[in-house]
Amino acid sequence: MSLRDATAEDLAAIMDLERTSFPTDAWSEAMMREELASRHSHYVVLEDAGILLGYGGVRAVERAGDADIQTIAIAAAARGRGRGRELLTALLRAARARGAREVFLEVRADNPVATSLYASEGFLEIARRPRYYQPDDVDAVVMKLDLVGWVARAAADAGVCS
Ligand SMILES: CC(C)(COP(=O)(O)OP(=O)(O)OC[C@H]1O[C@@H](n2cnc3c(N)ncnc32)[C@H](O)[C@@H]1OP(=O)(O)O)[C@@H](O)C(=O)NCCC(=O)NCCS
Repeated sequence: MSLRDATAEDLAAIMDLERTSFPTDAWSEAMMREELASRHSHYVVLEDAGILLGYGGVRAVERAGDADIQTIAIAAAARGRGRGRELLTALLRAARARGAREVFLEVRADNPVATSLYASEGFLEIARRPRYYQPDDVDAVVMKLDLVGWVARAAADAGVCS
């Protein structure tokens, strides 16, 4: 099992997982290609024996001070074993390395698994965007994380002085 930065070569495998993970609102291949190429984004992949098990991305513009979790997905057969959290924490560390102090995201109101993952890392609900996800007509929950506090908690948990 390895976690590494995504490259353009990962596009096809990422799109396969994107389409199965988000059947009604998957990004287009063109959008994902742009994301992988953008200097403002950081994407990581988890793989095992060359098979893509997950991917995630964060948008963190240098000196902007904040960041956005763009997407995160783990292959259905590989869920529930800590891999989503591993991807998320890698993205949060990358955002902090780019100077972000706060991280935002939007999650479907009908996605309790993802919401629970985010809440367990300290994300708080700050707003709702009614009917944001179409065609499903599902609200978006907007969440925000104090990234400086998250890093301090992670260091304390690891027994490291922050
Ligand atoms: C959301 C997703 C990335 C989580 O990845 P995962 O590897 O299954 O999650 P993890 O095993 O790391 O679990 C992390 C936390 O998620 C929550 N969680 C995981 N599985 C859950 C389940 N079946 N029911 C409720 N909460 C669950 C828990 O809070 C869990 O923490 P815990 O293990 O300490 O209880 C994954 O389910 C997924 O890819 N879903 C489809 C795509 C998606 O919805 N992406 C998010 C878009 S915003």
